[in-house]
Amino acid sequence: MKLTTSLVMAASLLFAFAGNASTDGKKIYDTKCFTCHASGVAGAPKFGDKAAWAPRIAAGMDAMMVIVIKGKGAMPPKGTCTDCSADDLKGVVQYMMDKSK
Ligand code: HEC
Repeated sequence: MKLTTSLVMAASLLFAFAGNASTDGKKIYDTKCFTCHASGVAGAPKFGDKAAWAPRIAAGMDAMMVIVIKGKGAMPPKGTCTDCSADDLKGVVQYMMDKSK
């Protein structure tokens, strides 16, 4: 009984680490998105620029995800991360939002 409890606890700890979206978000941002978003290339909302992100954060994650998946203007579909899942991309957007508000 006691062993089972600690196994369950160990398993949920492992899942907590595996599911750490902000780490993956940063990794993907640093390899795929920063080329445009670090400096604000072609009107991209600049990383950390509160004024650029405020209206987008107000519009909400779902509205942003439509643009991230499909692209818009100079924003390429999936931000060039073609092997990213929607969940991966959500993690990146969450990371960018958290650093820009
Ligand atoms: C080739 C340059 C480029 C790359 C690479 C890029 N973006 Fe963008 N991104 C843009 C531009 C330009 C816009 C502004 C689009 C507009 O509003 O017309 C934008 C807009 C956005 C927005 C705001 C959408 C909205 O609701 O207005 C998000 C979120 C975003 N990008 C996320 C990402 C993510 C995540 C990645 C990496 C996986 C990424 N971008 C990679 C250029 C880029």
